[in-house]
Amino acid sequence: MRTPAAVLCGLGTSLPERSVSNARLIEERDLDSDERWILERTGIAARRLADSRTSTGDLARAAGQAALDSAAELAGAPVRPDLVLLATTTPDHHCPATAPQVAHRLGLDGVPALDLSAACAGFVYATAFAQGLVTSGLYERPLVVGAETYSTTLIDPRDRDTAILFGDGAGAVLVRAGTPDEPGALIAQHLGSDGSRAGLIQVPAGGSRLPRGTPGTEPRDHYFRMNGRAVYAHAVRRMTDSARHALKNTGWSPDDVDAFISHQANQRIIDAVGDRLGIAPSCRHGNLRQLGNTAAASIPLALADTALRRRVDPGARTLITGFGGGLAWGAQTLRFPEARPHSYPPHTHHDNGEALR
Ligand code: UT7
Repeated sequence: MRTPAAVLCGLGTSLPERSVSNARLIEERDLDSDERWILERTGIAARRLADSRTSTGDLARAAGQAALDSAAELAGAPVRPDLVLLATTTPDHHCPATAPQVAHRLGLDGVPALDLSAACAGFVYATAFAQGLVTSGLYERPLVVGAETYSTTLIDPRDRDTAILFGDGAGAVLVRAGTPDEPGALIAQHLGSDGSRAGLIQVPAGGSRLPRGTPGTEPRDHYFRMNGRAVYAHAVRRMTDSARHALKNTGWSPDDVDAFISHQANQRIIDAVGDRLGIAPSCRHGNLRQLGNTAAASIPLALADTALRRRVDPGARTLITGFGGGLAWGAQTLRFPEARPHSYPPHTHHDNGEALR
């Protein structure tokens, strides 16, 4: 049976406990940087950093549980997802995918579960797919999680170009069938990619293009590399264009947007996209200052933070935009959800499932 809309009905987050300021990061890593430069050029003042025992799956599981509890609170009854979609570029292992273990740890054995890799655009991609699966009637309640541990996996701790930007964390939403005008309803989406620019954001070695041990590769080729200036320009252009498509397909003008939540990469990028679209600064929401760039987790973390602070009313016209490596980007319009976000600390586990704490 086709349903008229997919609706966000639960919001959850999980963050590592340790918050590291710009000054502390520079000191600990002995970076050739400056705390004022970081704040002024990026808008980032601090980030949460996972310890070496905390995996992406640990954060994803805690955020997923938080979203389920948030949805249960709103519905007045327990809810059980029928699909788990995990957007991440930093899975627990190259193989297998992390999502099945997250589903298992959520008590969802038997439910289909898969990882989706679209870097910082992962959450907009996953949400768009969840919308399609629900409105087509294939699935009724997908759990969508964006979770990352860039700091312990991909980032060269001594590379000032990237180490200052990224933080760790996870955000999750539960999606269900509903009607297009209710709070949380997903409306229009627009996704895109440009693989000709794959080299602008890349971990050069360690995959099948340059397998581990390939002569001529160096240890630093296994770390994340980004051409910041070029990525900046593409991010502004692609997110603006994508948002325009999504707004047009919704029948909204930029003036109609009550809340704009962009991927949290750089405040100057967020403001450039907002300015180009003509969305007032008072409508732009996020938590970049406290969390930095958490890649696929940044939009659900910003969405939950906005809801927690009651900055936007349930049902308000909302626009989200994402952009990242691939290049990949996307935008989605929705009605702001009414679920109260829940948040849990990550519970770290060995692979055999034994709880460490
Ligand atoms: O999430 C995926 C998408 N990622 C993004 O969207 C990130 C996009 N890029 C950016 O956010 C920005 O390009 C950066 C924050 C990465 C860099 O900012 P920028 O304003 O583009 O800096 P720049 O590379 O143009 O460098 C400007 C100046 C240079 O000094 P001079 O040549 O003007 O004297 C750099 O040496 O800033 C200097 N600089 C730094 N100084 C202190 C560059 N990086 C740093 C640093 N600390 N970390």
